Amino acid sequence: MAQLWGGRFTRETDKLVYAFNQSIAFDRRLLAQDIRGSRAHVRMLARQGILTETERDQILEGLDGIERDAASGKLLISESYEDVHSFVEAVLTERIGEAGKKLHTGRSRNDQVAVDMRLYIRDELDAVRGLLKELLGTILSIMEENTETFMPGFTHLQKAQPVTLAHHMGAYFEMFRRDAEHIASLRIRMNVCPLGSGALAGTTYPLDREYSARLLGFDRACDNSMDGVSDRDYVIEFISCLSVIMMHLSRLSEEIIIWNSNEYRFIELDDTYATGSSIMPQKKNPDIAELIRGKTGRVYGAMTQILTVMKGIPLAYNKDMQEDKEVVFDAIDTAKGCLRLMEGQLSSARWNAPRMAESACQGYANATDAADYLVGKGMPFRDAHTVIGRLVLSCIAAGCKLDDLPLASWKAESPLFEEDIYEAISLKACVERRMTKGAPGDMENEIRSSRDFLASL
Ligand code: ARG
Repeated sequence: MAQLWGGRFTRETDKLVYAFNQSIAFDRRLLAQDIRGSRAHVRMLARQGILTETERDQILEGLDGIERDAASGKLLISESYEDVHSFVEAVLTERIGEAGKKLHTGRSRNDQVAVDMRLYIRDELDAVRGLLKELLGTILSIMEENTETFMPGFTHLQKAQPVTLAHHMGAYFEMFRRDAEHIASLRIRMNVCPLGSGALAGTTYPLDREYSARLLGFDRACDNSMDGVSDRDYVIEFISCLSVIMMHLSRLSEEIIIWNSNEYRFIELDDTYATGSSIMPQKKNPDIAELIRGKTGRVYGAMTQILTVMKGIPLAYNKDMQEDKEVVFDAIDTAKGCLRLMEGQLSSARWNAPRMAESACQGYANATDAADYLVGKGMPFRDAHTVIGRLVLSCIAAGCKLDDLPLASWKAESPLFEEDIYEAISLKACVERRMTKGAPGDMENEIRSSRDFLASL
């Protein structure tokens, strides 16, 4: 047990208390960010004449060595230190002596952990954006290849109107595009540096906070030191972005599970993305899609957890805030894993176009188009709806499709029907005549706009 603050204490911390209080078991993940923050701090201290240039160089060299040795495995992060910040400072002092003890001048672990977390979340925002880009690229390829792949569009999971696979996947492109935009706007909002906030009230040393901020790639130093050490809004916002991403992944997973079922057979998952059963030899299960759907609950749990942790904290730093780490680490690992797996699952799957087209021809998905035909001949839509409703009813009784009805049956309901009704309700016509912006007949424009977005990401 090695603690930075032993001076004021006469007795050792109880073992259970130590174990309960420590964070090194998980904040060791912040080692790179902690070292990065310390480099900027020490450069700034020397620039302001608070440390000498020799001290600065010794510290920088020491930090480089720690980073190198930790990466190579030569330096193990010992759990006998309370947190990653104490660990780095202790190893530094062990290695370079007196100068190491000066690193913490004008700094508190409160602004240190605040800067570490911001650097970490900022890196992860970039990583998630990269994964979204890959997934969007895969979705776009599916769109480009399937503008003529007809399938039923659903409402209430009942066949509604014919669409194309390109159009259906285009809706997911929009969802993940919004996610990438959320991430980008959070990246701008959160890029503010808390370093130099001290414990809560700044410091008496003449720090140049804007200089440290610039060194760390932040846009500026934060305006209020109390907010600087106690703001975790960006953690909440990030988990919120991840929750929405998971919601989108979960909806897509649900569709994949349905489409992969024996009843639908719209998609066939690759063997590398499916699993078997220990008892039923014929099974090929969509476990990955199911797990993505299941893990959504885990990220939503993180959302509730972090909001609840933060809601009762008086200003400024309180130890409750240590609880931000495990929850956000887990949410990030989960969401990144799911994004990767969804991309792999989609890019390796095979689409069963004949089966989708056959399905689109059933269930009277072209009934609206039959009504629109009558409207084209001058009948008010409400009356046309009734006429086609009656024809559908007779088809249900006869067990046939609208397309199978002889012309005489159409004419019996309305003299406006002619031979061209069959062409008007064909699958191709139903899709291609829907040319309003964003409709399945307008995919060329949608694909162009999607391509432009992807290029800008
Ligand atoms: N492990 C702490 C955290 O994660 C670091 C800050 C500690 N500050 C303190 N005053 N105890 O929040």
